[in-house]
Amino acid sequence: MQTIEFEDRFLEALKNSTRVAALTGAGVSAESGVPTFRGEDGLWKKHNPMELATFEAFNSNPKLVWEWYDFRRNIIRKIKPNPGHFALAEMAKLYENFTLITQNVDRLHMAAGSPEIHELHGNIHRNRCLDCGKMDYTEGFDEIPPKCACGGRLRPDVVWFGEMLPAETLEKSMLAAHNSELFFTIGTSGAIYPAAGLPGVAKKNGALVVEVNLEPSEISHVCDIKYHGKSGEILPQIVNKIKELRQS
Ligand code: OAD
Repeated sequence: MQTIEFEDRFLEALKNSTRVAALTGAGVSAESGVPTFRGEDGLWKKHNPMELATFEAFNSNPKLVWEWYDFRRNIIRKIKPNPGHFALAEMAKLYENFTLITQNVDRLHMAAGSPEIHELHGNIHRNRCLDCGKMDYTEGFDEIPPKCACGGRLRPDVVWFGEMLPAETLEKSMLAAHNSELFFTIGTSGAIYPAAGLPGVAKKNGALVVEVNLEPSEISHVCDIKYHGKSGEILPQIVNKIKELRQS
């Protein structure tokens, strides 16, 4: 396991910050067995997102799109949070004002006990009616594409390519990034905006930005401190350090 070195300015920020925010991506769930999107074994290497994750794809082949999301729901149903998720849930208890922002739709942060999660890209377990907007968590439909009680078509409540992010969630995430003194970007390639813009917002407003990723990302240049390794190994060390600093 990789042991991380703590620079003085990071120790200072860990000890003295009250407003802390973290943005997570698929990498934080990789150690739980959730496939990431990019990289060697990424989902988008084997599948074309334009055929599976757009409204046009849903309109022209809803069965295929539903099968794709059922396939992913089946993977997610069997897995559990890893030490990275648990460390972030603990971090929320250690800071007066901690905001967790995720691009993940897998609900693993919730399963790990994080109290409040800003889900920028929706939630794979939730369905939304295209007609009445009602949301529910029903699974195992007889008919694909499934229908709402009102007769409208149900879709997975995730953000597809070309769609707007949930406005209120994005606004709160922007505000948290803007106000943060310490900002973590964890397990994200930083390829998809507006999420990938949040570390830059934090940095511009004076936060210390820390990257935790297996390898350099597209937003590494924005980050002041970079830990390249597994988030499930690095984040627990950071949480232990915060506790140690509190006692000293
Ligand atoms: P990506 O698949 O683009 O990036 C995952 C990142 O996690 C990569 O930079 C990896 O190096 C890193 N990584 C992998 N395993 C890791 C580990 N154990 N510890 C730390 N880092 C690790 O996933 P996202 O950045 O989340 O959007 O992708 C952003 C969005 O693109 C997704 O939300 C999804 C996708 O298209 C939509 O579906 C709208």
